[in-house]
Amino acid sequence: MEIIKVANAEEGGKKAFELIKAGMDNGAKVLGLATGSTPETLYKEMTASDLDFSNMVSVNLDEYVGLGGEDDQSYRYFMNDQLFNKKPFKATYVPNGKAADLEAECVHYESIIDSNPIDIQILGIGQNGHIGFNEPGTPLDSLTHVVELTESTINANKRNFEKVEDVPTRAVSMGIGSIMKGKKMILIAYGEAKADAVKGMIDGPVSVDLPASALQNHSDVVVIIDEAAASKL
Ligand code: F6R
Repeated sequence: MEIIKVANAEEGGKKAFELIKAGMDNGAKVLGLATGSTPETLYKEMTASDLDFSNMVSVNLDEYVGLGGEDDQSYRYFMNDQLFNKKPFKATYVPNGKAADLEAECVHYESIIDSNPIDIQILGIGQNGHIGFNEPGTPLDSLTHVVELTESTINANKRNFEKVEDVPTRAVSMGIGSIMKGKKMILIAYGEAKADAVKGMIDGPVSVDLPASALQNHSDVVVIIDEAAASKL
């Protein structure tokens, strides 16, 4: 793993943007994208840039079950708002959280990943070490699946909802195995609350107890972290 320390999220966004730009210069066509607060500064850099994404495809990690693009707490809404409405892509994929048959949606989404192999995967990390919505205990070879969110993740995400009861308890998420199919991983983490997860990801054993530790088995991982997230290394 290559570790890049940055002063703050603004610098981290710029660094991640430079890596995406270099990747696109080298022929990258598919970006794996994440939601949450971590990639916001990256998406600002992308929208402010003069880079053209109209030949690019994006594949997002996850979506809440029960929410659709019209719901402003959905990840589809977040992506449209932060990036796609400002920078059109050729195609943008986010799991359909309102699919009547969620199991079929998972199989369908995995086939989208296989038909659009991800060149660069952007990842945040949960305080419990999750990537995507792969909570501790998720098999490291898992494909796209329906996830029961843990209390820690529901609490961490409640800031976007009026009350904690409104936070969906399930999501459709790319599995750890789906994520690992990507050619290059860029994992970004800011703040002290992520320090233990970052430490476990880099220095701990590869274990289902800390899903991000699976990245130790990937040959091309860049970790962009601020001092606080790096404080336990
Ligand atoms: C989002 C996702 C999650 C987040 C993680 C960190 O698509 O898959 O794994 O990256 O929960 O969230 P933030 O960035 O809000 O701290």
